[in-house]
Amino acid sequence: MAVSPSAIQAPEHVQEHGEVFTRRWVVDLILDLVGYSADRDLVGMRAIEPACGSGAFLVAMIERLMDSSRRHGRDLREAYGALAAIDLVPRNVGLSQAMARETLHSAGVRRNVAQELADAWIRQGDFLLEPPTEHSTDFVVGNPPYVRLEAVPRDRSEAYRMACQTMGGRADVYIGFYEHGLRALRDGGVLGFICADRWMRNGYGARLRAMVSGGWAVETVISMTGVDAFEDEVDAYPAITTFRREPQANGPLVVEASPSFGPSEASEVGALAAKSTADHVHKPAFRGARLGTWFSGSAGWPHGSPDRLALIADLEARYPSLEDETTGTKVGIGVATGADRVFITENPELVEPERLLPLALPRDIASGEVQWSGKYLVNPWNADGLVALEEWPRLSEYLSQHRELLAKRHTAKSGRWHKTIDRVIEGLVDCEKLYLPDFKEAIFPVRDSGRTYPHHNLYWVTSDKWDLRVLGGLLLSDVAGLFIEAYSVRMRGGYLRFQAQYLRRIRVPDIDAIEAETATALVYAFDRRDRQEATRLALPLYGLESLPD
Ligand SMILES: C[S@@+](CC[C@H](N)C(=O)[O-])C[C@H]1O[C@@H](n2cnc3c(N)ncnc32)[C@H](O)[C@@H]1O
Repeated sequence: MAVSPSAIQAPEHVQEHGEVFTRRWVVDLILDLVGYSADRDLVGMRAIEPACGSGAFLVAMIERLMDSSRRHGRDLREAYGALAAIDLVPRNVGLSQAMARETLHSAGVRRNVAQELADAWIRQGDFLLEPPTEHSTDFVVGNPPYVRLEAVPRDRSEAYRMACQTMGGRADVYIGFYEHGLRALRDGGVLGFICADRWMRNGYGARLRAMVSGGWAVETVISMTGVDAFEDEVDAYPAITTFRREPQANGPLVVEASPSFGPSEASEVGALAAKSTADHVHKPAFRGARLGTWFSGSAGWPHGSPDRLALIADLEARYPSLEDETTGTKVGIGVATGADRVFITENPELVEPERLLPLALPRDIASGEVQWSGKYLVNPWNADGLVALEEWPRLSEYLSQHRELLAKRHTAKSGRWHKTIDRVIEGLVDCEKLYLPDFKEAIFPVRDSGRTYPHHNLYWVTSDKWDLRVLGGLLLSDVAGLFIEAYSVRMRGGYLRFQAQYLRRIRVPDIDAIEAETATALVYAFDRRDRQEATRLALPLYGLESLPD
């Protein structure tokens, strides 16, 4: 999408550009990971630095380019197209050009050639509004700006949204750098960024994750939290990621660096990445593992130690999901009303008894059993849809008293003013089911024998084949916890925020492979809420002896 950058506010007036400069050893690690090395004929290749700042990446790239030109007998004057760097801020462009000239000149390049190359390579512009041609480059490297779209002047942020398909919601500007950087790669080309890692898990990263899994292989993920990677302190959780334009075959090398990670560890990681196999590596300053596969689609990527991620990738490849057609197992969420004050009551006489359902709330299951608190849902639904109020005079009279309030809700805008946000699923109340609260320190399955309907802070699981107490035992185990901890966000106070899509990622063993004795023991562990015993019983069902830290 062509948007004229000159038509929008000049960059000099932009308050915040995300100017954080990368340390040299981090730059060298990224260049090693993407294969920007002097043994290749870099003069004949093309590399893009989309947000060059004062030239942290450029200087290292120019040094490698000169080395390559010597080794391959190339004249640097053939290298005008070998680099393309851009920055929004004119002062940074000037700084980068000066650094480039100096690097070239101090290596013996004549001043006029150095000047011409620096001018050809580095220019002022907006990478998101003047993106490179698709399939045009071999490398994209850099440290794109971390700037929330809200902090960008409105005309510019709107232009960004139009120019970048993956930049939805309250995205960060760097999302667009990934998108256009990835698109610019030729087949086999590699992108390597150090950037905030939020997009790998959160909502605004969903479109980018889906795009990545549609044509790019994740090759390296290095979590750099707390590492001294930048010239200034950064209030973000950075990660180095590299992607190659080719289908994902094997999984990436995943590394979790600790704050003492520095140049020598970076060299070790560079060497590890060069090997196609890397066993689980445990060093004082980092841990690493190469995964068998990577996670596809728009769902958030899991987080945790490399050993745990490798295990999750392995389990996801080998075992069926909790929600599964072959066992008729379904996962859903309880009803949100949009007006609990109206739709929840303790008065069993309020409306026709058929229009009341016993409602289960998170506090009703806190003990590990459903202890119904006596609250009812006023249910405006039946099997065919919303009930006709004229058929239910008491319901009609009661809801009409609150019509003004109910009609104001967003969900009622269609004119169906007496609906709850979610439809009540006919028959669910009578089904045996497991409940899981959406906010808890650990996964907490509780069985309902078929007496209550869940409120929206509870997820529910029903199954045609599973004995739900056996399944409850498996869900209580730390193996299920492994998935939840890796996919959920841990909130302040140590609570995990669950989501149905993460519950669905839990893997379960083959139902027929569970021997009767183990099943009985799982039921017993579930009934006693014995997580340790449930874990002991679950591990061998997944072919495991223990879970990694
Ligand atoms: C995090 S700094 C990184 C600079 C350099 N790559 C480094 O690693 O030291 C991000 C840079 O992006 C530039 N920038 C911000 N928005 C930009 C845009 N839309 N297009 C190009 N550059 C931009 C900023 O001026 C800043 O220099």
